[in-house]
Amino acid sequence: MRPKILLVEDNGRQAELTKANLEDQGFDVLVAHDGVEATVVAWAARPAAIVSDVLMPRKDGFELCWTIRQDPGLSNVPVILTTAAFASDEARAFAFQIGADAFVDKRMASEEIGGLLTETLERSDGRATGRPSLTEGDFYAEHPARLVSLSMQEAAVLESEREVFVDAYQGTLQALVSALDARDTGAGKHSNRVAEYALALANRLGVTEAEKREVVRGALVCDLGDIALPDRIFSKRGALSAAERDRVRSHPEMTRRIIEKIGAFRGVVDVVLAHHERWDGTGYPKKIGGEDIPRIARILAVADALEAISSDRPYRAARPFHAALQELSECSGTQFDPEVVDAALEIEPEHWASLKDQAESAAPRELMPGYL
Ligand SMILES: [Fe+2]
Repeated sequence: MRPKILLVEDNGRQAELTKANLEDQGFDVLVAHDGVEATVVAWAARPAAIVSDVLMPRKDGFELCWTIRQDPGLSNVPVILTTAAFASDEARAFAFQIGADAFVDKRMASEEIGGLLTETLERSDGRATGRPSLTEGDFYAEHPARLVSLSMQEAAVLESEREVFVDAYQGTLQALVSALDARDTGAGKHSNRVAEYALALANRLGVTEAEKREVVRGALVCDLGDIALPDRIFSKRGALSAAERDRVRSHPEMTRRIIEKIGAFRGVVDVVLAHHERWDGTGYPKKIGGEDIPRIARILAVADALEAISSDRPYRAARPFHAALQELSECSGTQFDPEVVDAALEIEPEHWASLKDQAESAAPRELMPGYL
C-alpha cells in the first residue's frame, strides 16, 4: 500500500513539483497550503507522515508541528520540516525541541526527501520519534524570534539566487550581442558603441532611470535580426538590389520575433521595431513620423547614425565626430527628431570620441551594469 503523505507548502509551483516527485517514488500525496488547512486535512485524512514548509501564511510550520504534537489523535505522526535556507543551528535546535523528526533544506534532491520519508516510516513502526522538550510557555516565547531569523535567512538565499539569475541573463545578452558583432568584422563592438552613445543622449535629455534601461537594452538588441541576414548581403560592398534592401529592412521585424519571447525585452519590442522610422515619416517598417515614433526609438536612431558615420565600414572609412555631428544636424527635422540632434550637438566631439574608446574597452555589463 502506498503511504499517504500530507505535503504542506504555500508556494503552488513548489507544491506541484514536490508532489509529483513524491508520487513517482511511491507515495500518495495530499497537499495543504498553510498550517491551518493542514491541521484540518490531517484530522480528516490521517496521513502516515507530514512534510511541511516552515514559512507560510496563517500558521507556520513550527506552529503546525507544535499543534500536531499536542494533539492526542495526531501526536505520533512523523513531521519533517523543510526550509528554503540552510537553517541556523538555533532554528534547527528549535525544530527538534518542538518535536520535528527532521529539518531539511527543501532544495535537496527529491529522492533524498523520499528516502528520508521511507526511513522515518520504517523507524519505530511509523510512529514519530520527535518529542517536544519545551513547555508551552517557552514555545510561545521563542517562536517569533526563530521565525523571524529563519525568514531573514530565506530572504538572503532568495537574493543570492536572484543574483545568479541576473548574472545568467546578462551573460546570455552578452553572448547574443557578441554573436552579432563577430559577424561584422568592420563594425566589431557596434552594439556597445550604439548603447554608449544612446545612454549619453538619454542622460542629456533627462529621461527616467527606467527609460534609460530601455535605451540600453534597445540599443544592444535592435539589430539582432541581422543574424538572419545572409553573409552576401551583410558584407556586401556595392549597392544593394531592391530585393536585398528589402531583406535588410526586414531586420527590425526579425529582431522583434527574436526578443518578444524573452521577458526582459518585452518592454523594448516597440522601440526596436521603430528604430529605423524617420521623423518625416519616410522610414521603415511602418512609415510613422514625429512623436508617433517612441521617443526611445528616436534616441536610438540618432545614436545608430552617429555610430555608423564615425566607424570604419567595409565600403568607407570612419569620419571624425565633428563631421558626423554636422551630418546629423543636416538631417535634423527630416530624418531625426530635432530635440535629440540638439542633445547630440551639445556634447563635444572629444567627449564622443572618449565614449567610443570606452565602449570598445569593455563589455556592457562592466560599463553599464545598472541598465542591462
Ligand atoms: Fe538597425
